[in-house]
Amino acid sequence: MADWDLLLTDAHVATMRGDGYGEIEDAALAVSDGAIAWVGPQAERPEVDAAETRSLGGRWLTPALIDCHTHLVFGGDRSAEFEQRLEGTRYEDIARAGGGIMSTVRATREMSSDALYAAALPRAQALAREGVATIEIKSGYGLDVDNEIKMLEVARRLGESTELDVRTTLLAAHAVPTEYADRADDYIDMVCDELLPLVAERGLADAVDAYLESIAFTAPQIAKRFRKAQQLELPVKLHADQLSDSGGAELAAHFDALSADHLEFTSKKGVKAMAAAGAVAVLLPGAYLTLGESQKPPVDLLRDNGVPIAVASDCNPGTSPICSLRAAMILASRLFGLTPLECLAGVTREAARALGLADDRGTLDVGKRADIAVWDIGHPRELAYWIGTPQLVELLVAD
Ligand code: NIG
Ligand code: FE
Repeated sequence: MADWDLLLTDAHVATMRGDGYGEIEDAALAVSDGAIAWVGPQAERPEVDAAETRSLGGRWLTPALIDCHTHLVFGGDRSAEFEQRLEGTRYEDIARAGGGIMSTVRATREMSSDALYAAALPRAQALAREGVATIEIKSGYGLDVDNEIKMLEVARRLGESTELDVRTTLLAAHAVPTEYADRADDYIDMVCDELLPLVAERGLADAVDAYLESIAFTAPQIAKRFRKAQQLELPVKLHADQLSDSGGAELAAHFDALSADHLEFTSKKGVKAMAAAGAVAVLLPGAYLTLGESQKPPVDLLRDNGVPIAVASDCNPGTSPICSLRAAMILASRLFGLTPLECLAGVTREAARALGLADDRGTLDVGKRADIAVWDIGHPRELAYWIGTPQLVELLVAD
């Protein structure tokens, strides 16, 4: 019997381990039982049998990409709102008038599971076509027990029916539903007492998220929900400081969050708190672009304090209608000044960390999942450089 299932030769590898690209030129990589069994310079490869050997003709291998923040299960469309915003209406004002997230909630509630699945599938496939093997999908457009569960089940089904590995996040505290208008505390109580325990019992969520903002929930409301999540042993993450400095980074750090996401208005104190807690900063340039924001996340402060930086699509119909993680990388470099290395690390090793999966994927290391992207490029820096060029040759994923 062969020692390895698959041996890839004549390749260059960006392992993404350590702080850099982890480049190995003229490399080989072996896969066994869905995991990386060996990686290194071709000249040092041990003489072992492989069931299949493929020469890659000088192509580059990187870890498969990871989109660690999406809302890609949703009903309806918000292009009319996009038009309204370009005509001068603010996102917050549309939300306060019952549009925004609530308009997607109405459309999502009206759709059956099958219809939601059919609408979400092409979005997930679009990500996969660009080299993404793992995606996180949030609920948050159901905002009641049945519809939040419906969204999470659709997300799980996407994972089961495609080659994508889907991680699900319960984002029930995304907006105050109309039927709880002026009773946000009661809604949070319902989420803590009813929805969260049910979701945990049924294993439908891998993490819990919330939206801290004047148009969404307050810090005490979110703290209550995070305490409940922690009792149920679910890790937390937070939509933090997107439109104002609400102390989101500090709140996330206080609860040992996996990540705090957006962070446009995060203060130095917030960055320091995240650094101390080891939370990942997930930057979402698609939302920044679509909302026409001018306040950028504090990238230099994040760097100086050693906060890991991930990049995600934030695919959603309101603030980031973008089914492309490559586009998010491009935008992160152009809008936030991330280097090509930071962009690639942000969608591989740091994205894995933002999902609590750093031990399992995100770098090409022996023992990790054999989720590998094969690229027709001269150097991995090109992945944050070229726009619209089809560079992915193949995506190999562990079974
Ligand atoms: O990540 N910030 C809140 N949540 C989403 C937007 C959702 C929406 O507008 O539908 C975001 O940008
Ligand atoms: Fe989001």
